[in-house]
Amino acid sequence: MKKRIFVTATNTDIGKTYTTLLLLKEFASRGLRVGAIKLIETGVVDIAVDAELLLDSLKELNPVFVDMKREDIVPITYTKAAAPYIASQRKALDLLKLHSAIEKLEKLCDVLIIEGAGGLLVPIDDKYMMIDMIKEFEASALLVSHCSLGCINDTLLSEYILKEKNIEFFTVFNCKDSDSDFEDVSEPYFTQTREKVFKTSSDIDTICDVLYNS
Ligand code: GTP
Ligand code: MG
Repeated sequence: MKKRIFVTATNTDIGKTYTTLLLLKEFASRGLRVGAIKLIETGVVDIAVDAELLLDSLKELNPVFVDMKREDIVPITYTKAAAPYIASQRKALDLLKLHSAIEKLEKLCDVLIIEGAGGLLVPIDDKYMMIDMIKEFEASALLVSHCSLGCINDTLLSEYILKEKNIEFFTVFNCKDSDSDFEDVSEPYFTQTREKVFKTSSDIDTICDVLYNS
């Protein structure tokens, strides 16, 4: 099995895709053949936003993606912008479809980044939540958190459930331009309670090292 990295986040819109694009570039700059898959994308009417972003990047970084279509890297889409449980009208998750898409893509790359939808406890169907996909696909986990007020609680909650499920993970903070008060308001808690605070803006190389070797 090739290296699989599952990118999750404390919520939707935190920066999973943004971080994935940075990871793809960094891994590719190391000479690795990169790939990415977004398992389920909801809110897809004409455009699948994540699929377009990922595919555009992959076409630049790995020639085998040049002729690929959106459905090759996003096997399941729904029109309603909602959790898959709602968007699918409680349809049972087609795990075989996801496994086969992953296996097909990873034949073409050395490292495959798997982007989840929303956060960890997003319900997919009556049986599965997004967190279950990390073990299902035997991937290393990257938790992307935000830097706005409330990020301490959100980060700790996500880390708590990952630990409860015995999933090893690595946390990174994706600070946006509007988060200029992170250093003052939230970061002191993290600097005092962990060895280092990793950020997408400055630590992508270290994150790649850790994930690739975990
Ligand atoms: P879903 O897949 O929809 O759950 O969202 P996501 O977690 O993948 O978030 P995404 O990476 O799409 O980021 C959400 C929005 O914030 C997008 O418009 C990004 O362009 C923007 N964004 C994310 N990270 C950064 C950042 O570090 N800097 C800036 N300026 N914008 C960011
Ligand atoms: Mg995304």
